[in-house]
Amino acid sequence: MLTQRPKGTNDFLPQETWKWQYVEQILREVCRQYGYGELRTPIFEHTELFQRGVGETTDIVEKEMYTFLDKGGRSVTLRPEGTAAAARAYLENRLHAGPQPVKVYYIGPMFRYDKPQAGRYRQFHQFGVEVFGSDEPVVDAEVIAMAMEIYRRLGIKDLELNINSVGCPVCRARHREALQEFLRPQLASLCKDCQSRFERNPLRILDCKQEGCQAATRGAPTITRQLCPDCKDHFDQVQTLLKALGVPFTVNERLVRGLDYYTKTAFEIMVKDIGAQSSICGGGRYNGLVGELGGEDVPGIGFALGLERTILTMEKQGVAWPEEAGTRVFVAVLGTEAREQALVLTQQLRSRGLAAETDLLGRSLKAQLKQADRLKVSYTVIVGGDELQRGEVQLRSMSDSSQQALKLEQVVDYLTEKLKS
Ligand code: HAM
Repeated sequence: MLTQRPKGTNDFLPQETWKWQYVEQILREVCRQYGYGELRTPIFEHTELFQRGVGETTDIVEKEMYTFLDKGGRSVTLRPEGTAAAARAYLENRLHAGPQPVKVYYIGPMFRYDKPQAGRYRQFHQFGVEVFGSDEPVVDAEVIAMAMEIYRRLGIKDLELNINSVGCPVCRARHREALQEFLRPQLASLCKDCQSRFERNPLRILDCKQEGCQAATRGAPTITRQLCPDCKDHFDQVQTLLKALGVPFTVNERLVRGLDYYTKTAFEIMVKDIGAQSSICGGGRYNGLVGELGGEDVPGIGFALGLERTILTMEKQGVAWPEEAGTRVFVAVLGTEAREQALVLTQQLRSRGLAAETDLLGRSLKAQLKQADRLKVSYTVIVGGDELQRGEVQLRSMSDSSQQALKLEQVVDYLTEKLKS
C-alpha cells in the first residue's frame, strides 16, 4: 500500500509532464484568442450541487462520485466534472449581473469511481469551457469550432464530430412518452440498468452499450424528429453555421450525453486510435442548469475534453512534439576547492535566465563530462586546477568539442550572449 498509488490514478513524471505543459500552453493560447478567462473552483463541492446539477439518475451521481462526510458532518464530493461548479460560481459571484456572455475555461483534475482501463481513470484531467448568457446558435457553432480548432493545433487527425439536439423540456416530454410506448413491449429484453431507467430516464436507454438494449432501441423514435419549432430552428442554424465554418460533422440522432443538464445542442468528438474510450471531448447546451441551481434562467453551453485521452491520441498518432528545452550549460568541478566557485558561477548563469547545472555528487571530471553529454548541454564550463589559479576557466563547446580558456569574470557574459540569441 505504501508504495502503490490508488487504482485508477496516475503519477506523471518529468519525462512526460513537459508534454502536458505544451498541450496546456496551446489550450490557454486558444482560450485567449477566443476570449475566455480562466476559472478556478474548489476540487470538492457540496454533494447537492452535483446531485442537482448533473442529475440524480445519471451514472455519475448514482455510481461514480467520491462522496464523504467532512469533520463537520457535511457531505462533500470530489468534483466529477466542471460544468455544475462553473454554474455555481457564476451565480455565487454574481457574474450574471455583469456583461454577458460570460466565457470561462478551466483545467484540472476530476474524480469518478469508474472501472479503470486504458483512457479511463478515477482521477483524470479535463480542460473545459463554458459560456453563460446566450442562447444564440452562433455560440454553439463557435464553441464546437473551438474544440475542433484545438485538435487541429495539437496535430490530431481522423476525428469524428457527432452532433445532435436533445431538445427542451417541451419536446423532451413528448419524446419520453413516444420512447416509452415503443420500448414497453420489449422491456424484458433490456438490461437491469435500462429497466430501471425506463421510468426514470428512458432517453439514456438509447445510449446503452449492451447488445440487448441496442437491439431493442433499433428504430426507436429519436428526439431529433420530435423537436419543437424553436429547438428545430436552433439546431438547423447551428448546422448552417458549422457548414459556413467548414467544420465537418455527422448528425447522430442517438447521441444522448450521460449528464442530465443538456438541452438543445449536444456533441461529442471521437477518435479511432484510443480503443474503447473513443470519446475525447463532449459537450452541449444546458439552458436549464443555472435555473436548476436556484438562479434565473440563464442559458449556457460548453464542452470538456479529457487531457489523458488527448495526449494518448497524440502519442498513438505520432504527432511531432516540440523540442524539450533542456539544460544549456554544465559547470564541471575539478578539485574540491573549485566547488564554491562552480556553484557561484552556476547561480550567476541562472540569474541571467540560462538553464544551468553543476555537479551535486562529488563525481570525477570524467563522470561529470558524461553527465554533461547526457544532459545534451551546449557548453560545459570546467572550473578548477591551474586555470582557476590564473582566474580562468575552460569552456568546451559540446557541438564540436573545441575548448578555450576564458577569464572567469567574462564567462557569464560570453555564455549569455551565445545562448540567449
Ligand atoms: P463528459 O463527457 O462526462 O462531459 O466528459 C468529457 C470528457 O472527459 C470525455 O470526453 C473524456 O475525454 C473525459 N473523461 C470523462 N471521464 C473520464 C475518465 N473516467 N477517465 C478519463 N477521461 C475521462 C462532461 O464532463 C461535461 N461537464 C462536459 C461539458 C462541459 N458539457 C458542457 N460543458
